Amino acid sequence: MLLPVIMAGGSGTRLWPLSRTLYPKQFLTLTGDNSMLQDTVARLQGLEHQAPVLICNEEHRFIVAEQLRQRHFAHSGIILEPAGRNTAPAIALAALHATAQGEDPLLLVLAADHVIQNQVHFIQAVQQALPQAAAGKLVTFGIVPHAPETGYGYIRQGKAVSAEAYQVAAFVEKPDLATAEIYLASKEYYWNSGMFMFRASRYLEELATHRPDILAACQQAMQGVHHDLDFLRLNEAAFLACPDDSIDYAVMEKTQDAVVVPMDAQWSDVGSWSALWEVNSKDEDGNAIRGDVLTTQTRNSYIYAQHKLVSTVGVDDLIIVETKDAVLVANKNNVQDVKAIVAQLKAAN
Ligand code: GDD
Ligand code: MG
Repeated sequence: MLLPVIMAGGSGTRLWPLSRTLYPKQFLTLTGDNSMLQDTVARLQGLEHQAPVLICNEEHRFIVAEQLRQRHFAHSGIILEPAGRNTAPAIALAALHATAQGEDPLLLVLAADHVIQNQVHFIQAVQQALPQAAAGKLVTFGIVPHAPETGYGYIRQGKAVSAEAYQVAAFVEKPDLATAEIYLASKEYYWNSGMFMFRASRYLEELATHRPDILAACQQAMQGVHHDLDFLRLNEAAFLACPDDSIDYAVMEKTQDAVVVPMDAQWSDVGSWSALWEVNSKDEDGNAIRGDVLTTQTRNSYIYAQHKLVSTVGVDDLIIVETKDAVLVANKNNVQDVKAIVAQLKAAN
């Protein structure tokens, strides 16, 4: 059986001031009517799967439960982390939760904060991954890169193992710019989409080999697990003692058993305001607009007004985000640095 595992514990700081500690990116409605989390679940339609497991920060439990309820989505547990320890432990908790019930499902690990515009191609790639995961492989989904992004993992394509899957010849998480440029020019690499598929027990085996410390901490955290309504609460002290690491560094860079299934599904991790501008529909001047906005002689801008009328005259390539207590005005080409503002705010508090 296929068990979707939805990781919803990130902070999404580059989408400040919309994305906040108490209400991060994955819970926002940034395109269409659904939140990113709701879209993540909705996109599974057409696949045969069990109700998903969700893993999030304890602080966000009511947001997650309410967003699922709104869309009548079932789930098979919402695991609460007292603090984030990154994705390697989060996925370990889901794998341990699944195997504790005497089952060993294929886990489809998904980020809760991606935009995928072509759902049909997404489902196709997931179906192509199934036989590989069933055969014990750790499947990644590869995106053809179009820029030397340093915020992604890079996957070098090896020999074909089926009509749709290739061995992973190398996995490099977040290379520096010079390396990313070489990878892009070589045309031998995919971006890692941050979605994975493997049997629960295979992931736990890999963790036992490469990061037994993380596995041991998660096992201890799950031994003390107790149910509280829909929620699974961990042994808090045990989980807080868990080392912090992502699946990419902890397992994917090290395993010998990874394959990549290319996915051409108009994927974006909308990691910045300019990425969000790209995936949104735009008017004839290239402006993506939400809320009460008036523009003239304004081009290629993203403008979001939550509480006030926002108007612009004679400006190009701007990001303007107006919320109740903060306004961001940024050049569309400098949006990666929004996180520097968040860091300044944190330092001041
Ligand atoms: N439950 C839980 N706990 N979820 C978490 C935690 C945590 O501690 N940390 C992150 N997440 C969730 C985020 O909400 C997101 O949905 C997903 O896990 C991935 O985490 P990110 O922090 O967004 O990772 P990244 O974007 O830097 O890198 C990953 O994704 C890239 C593609 O977007 C890597 O897998 C890269 O290799 C990949 O290219
Ligand atoms: Mg991300």
